[in-house]
Amino acid sequence: MLQNKISLKANIGKYRFNNVLLNAAGIRCATTDELTKILRSTAGGCVTKSATPQPREGNESPRMKATPLGCINSMGLPNHGLDYYLKFAEENQGKNDNQVILSIAGLSVDQNLEMLHQIQDSSFDGLTELNLSCPNIKGESQIAYDFEAVRDILTKAFDFFTKDIGIKLPPYFDLHQFDQIADVLNEFPIAYVNSINSIGNGLIVNPETESVVLKPKGGFGGLGGDYVKPTALANVRGLRLRLKPEIAIIGTGGIKSGRDVFEHILCGANVVQIGTAFGFEDVKIFDRISKELKEIMAEKGYTSLDDFRGKLKTL
Ligand code: SIN
Repeated sequence: MLQNKISLKANIGKYRFNNVLLNAAGIRCATTDELTKILRSTAGGCVTKSATPQPREGNESPRMKATPLGCINSMGLPNHGLDYYLKFAEENQGKNDNQVILSIAGLSVDQNLEMLHQIQDSSFDGLTELNLSCPNIKGESQIAYDFEAVRDILTKAFDFFTKDIGIKLPPYFDLHQFDQIADVLNEFPIAYVNSINSIGNGLIVNPETESVVLKPKGGFGGLGGDYVKPTALANVRGLRLRLKPEIAIIGTGGIKSGRDVFEHILCGANVVQIGTAFGFEDVKIFDRISKELKEIMAEKGYTSLDDFRGKLKTL
């Protein structure tokens, strides 16, 4: 049977993933119990909740609302602080062939550099994901919409940081933005970009109560799920066409089926992350989507992800 020959293995540079599916930072990954559960599942590894230097409570509730098309959130980076996630990452990275991606999201350039120093000085030898795209911090902009700020932080980081780093990006909407961010990122030895974070500052309205559904920021929050898949695919594709080949791409956004993964990989994703749908379905989603993806690959006669990665046709 062709299905038995199909491999869902993937890699980012020297880091091998036994399965192309990972969780997206923020969903069911804030505690060591949740992270361990992901590592024991079919997923190719886990991504930790984006850490700040100190533990944070995050924004006030309600701060997440599921909708028929996905979800809106304004969590505000509730997390246990870098020490907590770094210890987990040091203990689990590479164990049983699992990758642990350590996500960090400082509230300032200095906080990001402080955390990168701590990671540099640690025994952690995996991938660090620098989240420059959280839309839910009151009074703060998403750093990655300011291209000079991205250049500045990466220049300062690569002055001392010798380990492997990926950048979590927000969605871009104009092709000139794709050109500009790619020009900046191509200047640095980045291992990967992760595209996209939620579509920031959406608004869901409840017509019955005539109200917003989230308390923080007057109801504005990041959108995930079905709302974002076409934007995510465009960002994966747009960046793959512009980034140097050494920079891998993690495709994130709107994945809830094998077909969605297939589309992300056609657009050029090396690995994919599942956020909203993982929140709804928990770790069994990795089994279901792996099976669906293998069925699609079998039908098309593909045995590896390389057979179709980046091979999206244009008309
Ligand atoms: C949050 O905690 O507000 C979500 C994190 C993110 O979107 O980066």
